[in-house]
Amino acid sequence: MPGTCVVGLQWGDEAKGKIVDLLGDQFDFVVRYNGGANAGHTVVANGKTFKLSLLPTGVIRSNVHSVIGNGVVVYPPRFLEEVDTLRAGSIDVAGALSLSDHAHVIFPYHMEEERLAESAVEGKIGTTGRGIGPCYQDKVGRRFAIRVGELLHPKHLRERLNLIVPFKNRLMAAFANDQADAFKPLDAGRIADDYLGFAQRIRPFVADTSRMLQEAFSRGKRVLFEAAQGSLLDVDHGTYPYVTSSSSLPSGIWSGAGVPAKNVQRVIGVVKAYTTRVGQGPFPTELHDETGERIRKIGREYGTVTGRPRRVGWFDAVAVRYTAALAGADEITVMLLDVLSGLSELKLCTAYEIDGERTQHFPSDAFQLERCKPVYETIPGWNDDLTAARTLSDLPASARRYIDRIAELAGLKVSVVSVGPDREQTIQP
Ligand code: GDP
Ligand code: IMO
Ligand code: MG
Repeated sequence: MPGTCVVGLQWGDEAKGKIVDLLGDQFDFVVRYNGGANAGHTVVANGKTFKLSLLPTGVIRSNVHSVIGNGVVVYPPRFLEEVDTLRAGSIDVAGALSLSDHAHVIFPYHMEEERLAESAVEGKIGTTGRGIGPCYQDKVGRRFAIRVGELLHPKHLRERLNLIVPFKNRLMAAFANDQADAFKPLDAGRIADDYLGFAQRIRPFVADTSRMLQEAFSRGKRVLFEAAQGSLLDVDHGTYPYVTSSSSLPSGIWSGAGVPAKNVQRVIGVVKAYTTRVGQGPFPTELHDETGERIRKIGREYGTVTGRPRRVGWFDAVAVRYTAALAGADEITVMLLDVLSGLSELKLCTAYEIDGERTQHFPSDAFQLERCKPVYETIPGWNDDLTAARTLSDLPASARRYIDRIAELAGLKVSVVSVGPDREQTIQP
């Protein structure tokens, strides 16, 4: 049975959560393979709104087993908070959620390192402050990393923290000195006490999830991989250095879930009908005018994790073609189309101009993308409210034309058009 991946083809927040939820009843497993609580996936189902950061969106479906793979970085208090919030809403994830023993753990010093690095004048990335980058740095650096499985061995955990925390304190003191920034040394014993407490509650969820998934595939189970972030934030192929620290493209599945790539045979690319971005970095089609304000307001474009206003711009087909090719997307789903109602005309970016030359290729190095000017094609807008549309024929002709043009420019068929946050507000052509 082939696996499926749902992946964002822009800079995140494409409404992946809604698509994962929509497909939820067709799958036995939903798996997160990258990122951590920097993600914010919102689902509106049966009149209830669910906001998930670290847990897979599958947790709200009773038929699904949710998995946090080894490629995810986990902040235990956040994990427990999400489990408790679900329980308060009558969703018990016991027995339906597994956490990889190989996933790396985020500690308070990771958040502190990030805060100090981001407060430096140079090199600000506009991160979410969740300790993601510093934890992945430690993972790759090896010496100071701790994995979930190690939390279950008290003596070992204390020894590791007694070694790591003094080093981190020295590092952060040096950072803080530079910036006259307050820094209070952390206490290894206290962190160990706290994390051993978390470990007691996390223990029942911990598993060898890579073996679990390999067995699931061999038993013919249906597995859905839920990417966090967007492909333009992928650490290798995104707009480096203004990216996250993990592989958000489906290429992250093999390493981040321990499942061979050949098992993933369907890739669903999710795009907004326009573009948003949170944090620093180039954004060729960004709008700094009233139209941008309007889209931000109607689309409620404020970050789920940080509350920051999202930057807003026109749909960028150059960027989406680039990410669709990298992701191996078979189809795209076009989200938040309803937000564009009431604009007399819409723009689609079909090429860039760089140093007077026209190009169809996306330069993912931030310093080159910075210099790209968008070349637009203009399409008439529509005034109708789209939120009650349930079939393509319910849409005004100009909205259908807009969707068709996106499909043409991306070179992919459109498998879903979304006209509102609710599960029901969906068109499946
Ligand atoms: P994700 O990170 O990719 O899962 O996306 P987010 O959840 O961060 O952001 C998408 C937002 O748009 C959420 O608040 C969704 O509830 C909302 N949403 C999803 N689809 C639609 C849609 O078609 N129309 C509107 N207006 N909102 C939508
Ligand atoms: P979902 O899964 C949008 C952005 C941050 C910042 C950069 C690096 O909801 O689509 P990090 O904290 O990861 O080191 O920040 O990446 N970012 C996201 N933007 N959606 C996300 O996740 C994001 N996760 C990280 O704003 O620019
Ligand atoms: Mg989000």
